[in-house]
Amino acid sequence: MIKLQNVSRLYPAKAEANGGVIRALDNFTLAVDPGEWVAIMGPSGSGKSTLVNLIGCLDRPTSGEIWLDGEKVANISTADLNRVRAEKVGFIFQQFHLIPYLTSLENVMLAQYFHSMTDEREALEALEHALTTFRRSSRAASSSECA
Ligand SMILES: Nc1ncnc2c1ncn2[C@@H]1O[C@H](COP(=O)(O)OP(=O)(O)OP(=O)(O)O)[C@@H](O)[C@H]1O
Ligand SMILES: [Mg+2]
Repeated sequence: MIKLQNVSRLYPAKAEANGGVIRALDNFTLAVDPGEWVAIMGPSGSGKSTLVNLIGCLDRPTSGEIWLDGEKVANISTADLNRVRAEKVGFIFQQFHLIPYLTSLENVMLAQYFHSMTDEREALEALEHALTTFRRSSRAASSSECA
C-alpha cells in the first residue's frame, strides 16, 4: 500500500534571485491499495517524475508524510531509503538499462547482489521463466493478429 499525506517538494529556482522556489508538488495526498494500478498523467513540468522519485525512494519530500507498506519513508536515512527501495520498489524503464558488458544471467545476478546475495540457479530459473513467458506472449500476439 502506498500513501502520501500532504506531500510537497520544492526545488530551488536558480534563475530567480533571492531564494525563489519551484513548487513541483504542493500539498499532494494519494492512497494506492495493494493490487491497484495507477497511471500518472499530466503535462510536462506538472510533477510526475518528482512524484515517482518520491514513491520510488529516490528522493525525500520537503514536507509531508509517505508510507510504503506501512513504513514511513519521508524522513528516514539514506541507508534506510536504499534498503526500502531494494526491498519494495521495482522500476521499469522505457530503455532496458542492462549492463552491456555482462551476460543476461549476470545482469539478473547483479540485481540479486544488490538485494541480498547471488544464487546462480535461482537467477537462471528466473531468466528462463521470463524468456518462456515472453515467448508465450509473442505467440499469443501473432496468433491473435491472424484470428
Ligand atoms: N532537480 C530539479 N531542480 C530544480 N527544478 C526541478 C528539478 N526537477 C524538476 N524540477 C522542476 O519541477 C517541476 C516538475 O518537474 P517534473 O520533472 O517532476 O515534471 P514532469 O511532469 O515529470 O515533466 P515531463 O513530462 O517533462 O517529464 C518543473 O517545473 C521542473 O522544472
Ligand atoms: Mg518526467
